[in-house]
Amino acid sequence: MRFRRTFKKRAPFRAHDSGRCRAVRSITAPAVAAPIVPGRLPLLGHLPQLAVKRVEFLQSVRTRGDIVRIFLGNRPVFILNSPEAVHDVLLTQSRKFGKGLLFDVARPFIGNGIITSERDFHLRQRRALQPAFHRNSIAACVGTMTDIAEEQVSAWRPGEVIAMDVVMRRMMTVMLVATLFSTERPEGAAAVAELGEQVAEHLTTVMRGVFVGTVLPAPIASSRVLGHRKYLAAAAALRELADTAVRQARQTQQAGQAPTARGDLLSVMLAGTPGNPRGMTDVEARDELLSLLMAGAETTSTTLSWALHELGRRPEITRRMRAECDALPAGALPGAATLPFTDRFLREVLRLHQPSWLLMRRALEPVRVCGVELPRGAELVYSAVTMHRDPAYYPEPLRFDPDRWLARTEKDLPPGAYVPFALGNRKCIGDHFAMTEMLVVLRAIVSRWRPRPVEGHRVRPVVQALIRPNALPMRVSPWPAG
Ligand code: HEM
Repeated sequence: MRFRRTFKKRAPFRAHDSGRCRAVRSITAPAVAAPIVPGRLPLLGHLPQLAVKRVEFLQSVRTRGDIVRIFLGNRPVFILNSPEAVHDVLLTQSRKFGKGLLFDVARPFIGNGIITSERDFHLRQRRALQPAFHRNSIAACVGTMTDIAEEQVSAWRPGEVIAMDVVMRRMMTVMLVATLFSTERPEGAAAVAELGEQVAEHLTTVMRGVFVGTVLPAPIASSRVLGHRKYLAAAAALRELADTAVRQARQTQQAGQAPTARGDLLSVMLAGTPGNPRGMTDVEARDELLSLLMAGAETTSTTLSWALHELGRRPEITRRMRAECDALPAGALPGAATLPFTDRFLREVLRLHQPSWLLMRRALEPVRVCGVELPRGAELVYSAVTMHRDPAYYPEPLRFDPDRWLARTEKDLPPGAYVPFALGNRKCIGDHFAMTEMLVVLRAIVSRWRPRPVEGHRVRPVVQALIRPNALPMRVSPWPAG
């Protein structure tokens, strides 16, 4: 039975009546204005509420309408509250939307790569990157991913306390750098690891700067007190690292050496693809590197941190996962078919601990969504966290239960209700890559270790560009023999 029919729709809260938001209604019914969320203050708008309780605030407005309006200072922002509205904006009417304020703020930091670019240029760049995310290309990276994960976890000692959040951030950045950009760097694996670590350090600072610049008015966000100079310095350092990588790859290309056997992404970007036979310019390639680093390192490391947090609290799940991982035949690729429980576990982590809590779009023309008229230039926010914790689709939404995905798969949910990787033309290009990396890392950890929480430490979510744990010290113990 389809999920949509099994569950009652949540209590009516529609903008204009109790009916569901449907495309047909938006065409036939008179348009309405999105209701303004109460509590708006002069000059500040809803900033204080957002500053104090970011996710809770977004969740609290969920019952006020499919689309509601808040103010960041004097700037109106529309919040998409229902799966239907999210689906309509991300997929059905996606051509009428650009990426919006968040990405305007990101552009000066990271350039005009796939995550910030728009329209035809975006399409061209996306097509150029697509081959690197093909299943076969990802399969070719599994060996490198496994080596990196194994090397790290085999260095842990029994009883040692590991700062898992820090270790995951480094590990996933190194993995991204090693697999996508420099599979066979002449300086060897140690240089790749060092580069990855430098990137990881700057990346966190840059992402914080982008977040601050999005939610706060420009004069406040660019103040020295909030460390604006630090963000700029980190962005410049990151650009310099990416420029160097591009320069080296260009020299290799000009020396007539072919890209690596797997065709690492950077070489492919410079050499060209059928969609872009002349290849990218150095600046374009640099911007794509920055985009992929921004999109692909902290998202996976944060998800893995939450995954380890859940494992620490649930020894029975760790045991189940270990049994499944140990039974994976040598040479078999990690995936939903070969590690179904671990895959379900990760899907549940992505539901309950979705790292990207705030994403944006901008209406490029006047558009009607769920019966609400949005003017040209309207800034829109959607949060997968709100969707993923909706009790209408997820009974007891705060309960962590990988087996909820046994009864119902993503396909059984209304489109827009489960969007860890978004939807439509801007859907995450690295979704399969990310799932593979995360399965590889979990397998490497649980095959050797039982991660446990450290007594006395309370894990709290910190909401910045992503929702991450405040700190995640965990003690690792080997499995008892036998
Ligand atoms: C758990 C890990 C990940 C999550 C939860 C995630 C989530 C997302 C989401 C929600 C978007 C859409 C953003 C929007 O609507 O504006 C996105 C876009 C994107 N992601 Fe991921 N992502 C993950 C990992 C990765 C990885 C590993 C890579 C690359 C190596 C990657 C590359 C990208 C790119 C390039 C885009 C922009 C696509 C476009 O605009 O055409 N992501 N991701």
